[in-house]
Order: sequence, then structure tokens, then C-alpha cells
Amino acid sequence: MRPYCRSTITTIHLDCCYARSMAETREPAIKVILLPKDANSLGTIFGGAILSHVDLAATVEARRTAQLRFVTRAMNAVEFRQPVYVGDIVSFFAETIRVGRSSITVRVVVEADRFCQGSEQRVRVTEAEVVLVAVDEHGAKRAIREA
Ligand SMILES: CC(C)(COP(=O)(O)OP(=O)(O)OC[C@H]1O[C@@H](n2cnc3c(N)ncnc32)[C@H](O)[C@@H]1OP(=O)(O)O)[C@@H](O)C(=O)NCCC(=O)NCCS
Repeated sequence: MRPYCRSTITTIHLDCCYARSMAETREPAIKVILLPKDANSLGTIFGGAILSHVDLAATVEARRTAQLRFVTRAMNAVEFRQPVYVGDIVSFFAETIRVGRSSITVRVVVEADRFCQGSEQRVRVTEAEVVLVAVDEHGAKRAIREA
């Protein structure tokens, strides 16, 4: 039988956790603690609350590439792999994977730090690819790099 790590409401597989103490070489675009207002009746966080932060993290990353206004055109390949619990410290890591004419595609990986069998563990909970489009002051798409 596989070992389980008991969390607030339900259980998760221990092999989905890895030690928080491992060397942290990445800097999250944003980091938050999600509150009961973001939870559903099961006590886990709404996917939509996670996605709103995915959106913000992708925008922070896009603004590193170009200091322009961006709107979200698409969210692709969204996967909710594990639940997020109230009180988890949730990090949103963002990486630019494509810069097009008007769009930037950012991959966002979401990881939750939570207490698990007496120590803090990190769990990869969500992944997504966000397509942001640069827009002018009228909301029309514009080139990221002028010719
Ligand atoms: C963003 C907006 C101005 C883009 O205008 P548009 O005429 O639809 O633009 P396009 O279809 O040409 O797409 C623009 C870019 O996005 C890319 N794109 C569009 N849909 C995509 C998708 N599903 N996946 C990946 N890339 C996509 C296109 O390839 C293009 O990239 P490039 O210019 O770098 O080659 C317009 O769609 C809009 O205003 N959308 C609403 C945005 C918004 O309000 N978002 C908040 C959520 S409600």
C-alpha cells in the first residue's frame, strides 16, 4: 500500500511531495496564501482562483520582456494536478516560451508548500500556458517589437 500524507480535508500521495529544504534556484513571479473566501464547500481552492493568479504571474513575466499593456488571449494546456488547500503558500513560477509578433506565451507552474507529516512539503499543483497579446491604448493588438 502506498503511504499517504494527511492534509486538511483529504489525502495526497507522498510521492507527489518533495522536501521544501531543497535548494531553491527559481524565483516565483508571485507568491500568495489563499484564504477561505477562495475555497469551495470541500475546503479546497477554486480552480478559478488559481487561474486568476496564473494570469497575473504570466503578466508579470510578459512585462519583463516588454513594458507594454497585455491582455490574455488564451490559456492553453491547463492542468490541475493536485488540490490546493486553505493556508498553503502557493508559488507561481513563470517562464517565457515564445515571443511572437504581438503575443508572448508564458508557461506557469504552480507549486504549493504545505505541512505534511510534520514537515513542510512542496507539491506541484497546476500548470498552464498563457498567451498574452500586447495592445495599444484602444485595446487593439500591436507589435511587441516595432519594425
Ligand atoms: C487580444 C485581442 C486584441 C487580439 O486580437 P485578435 O485579432 O483576436 O488577434 P489574433 O487572433 O491575431 O491573435 C493575436 C496573437 O495571439 C495568438 N493567438 C491567438 N489565439 C491563440 C491561441 N488560442 N493560442 C495561442 N496563440 C494564440 C496569435 O497567433 C497572434 O500571435 P502573433 O501576433 O504573436 O503571431 C482580442 O482578441 C481581444 O481583445 N481579446 C479579449 C482580451 C481580454 O479581454 N482578455 C481578458 C479576459 S476576458
